[in-house]
Amino acid sequence: MSDFLSSGAMRRRPRRNRRLPFLRDLVEETKLHTDDFILPLFLLNGQNQRVEVSSMPGIFRLSLDLMLKEIEECLNLGIKAFDLFPVMHELEKDKHATISYDHQRNHYLHAIRQIKTKFPECLVMTDVAMDPYSSDGHDGIVDKGQIVNDPTLKVLGKMAVAQAQAGADIIGPSDMMDGRVGYIREALDNAGFSDVAIMSYTAKYASGFYGPFRDALDSAPKFGDKKTYQMNPANRREALIEAQLDLEEGADMLMVKPALAYLDVIRLLKDNSPLPITAYNVSGEYAMIKAAAQKGWLDGDRVMMESLLSIKRAGADIILTYFAKEAAMLMKR
Ligand code: PBG
Repeated sequence: MSDFLSSGAMRRRPRRNRRLPFLRDLVEETKLHTDDFILPLFLLNGQNQRVEVSSMPGIFRLSLDLMLKEIEECLNLGIKAFDLFPVMHELEKDKHATISYDHQRNHYLHAIRQIKTKFPECLVMTDVAMDPYSSDGHDGIVDKGQIVNDPTLKVLGKMAVAQAQAGADIIGPSDMMDGRVGYIREALDNAGFSDVAIMSYTAKYASGFYGPFRDALDSAPKFGDKKTYQMNPANRREALIEAQLDLEEGADMLMVKPALAYLDVIRLLKDNSPLPITAYNVSGEYAMIKAAAQKGWLDGDRVMMESLLSIKRAGADIILTYFAKEAAMLMKR
């Protein structure tokens, strides 16, 4: 050992690049930017409504008037993209999610219009899936206890066109039905919306990490689970089939969801697809960090930034995250 030291053999000293803060910045491989973020927002019907999601401290379900204020604050922080999810009343739901494409009755479609009118420069992404509107709480039509694929596509197509008519910039099919990207692409094109983009939930896993989101929307399945349409968490290579189909069917961006337990899948798609890759840092991932931080067990800000960084380092070009606003505030300082 002492021979090794005295011989000067240790020419390579990686610590040299870590010596000073500015030097560390200079050699930094991954940089987060607010341009990378999309903030999910939960929309309530009514006025002056602001209800915290109990399993997501710091995240509020908002009525349109308050959501417009929230969007304005976020735009000032450099967040330009928002993914909207509707909270529907139980009485508005039915087996065919009829209200989802009804411009007169669906407050979600009205809100999209208002947001794009007030802030034409912001990017509005919308969610295509039946679950917020379904009396069964499933993403597709339920027939004799089965989630039926092809009849569901017709509903998804109508929903996507209605959202495009309301002004959506990016359509996000989160339902995992087979063939839905191609079906929705054709429906949008036929309705004159060839400019509206599709961000496909390509590799969406049947995950326990969605629990708090289903609290936020009161959208938990009324029976069974989502394992016949969402992917098995044990499978990695199967994501390549979904990615290939999405590319062929006309998706503009791909998504992996959840993010933190699936960093390997993010990297897999990044290395195997020419399309931009999004990662959805989901509700349960947010809740875990918040809960530990509230208990004083973790430094919340620090692990938030570390998690977001790890998602980008894994290969995500875009990060959908409930942390977007908090992270942007920290990054501004
Ligand atoms: C449903 C949908 C879910 C999420 C986004 N869209 C839940 C589910 O599939 O049951 C989850 C988002 C999150 O947990 O943050 N179409």
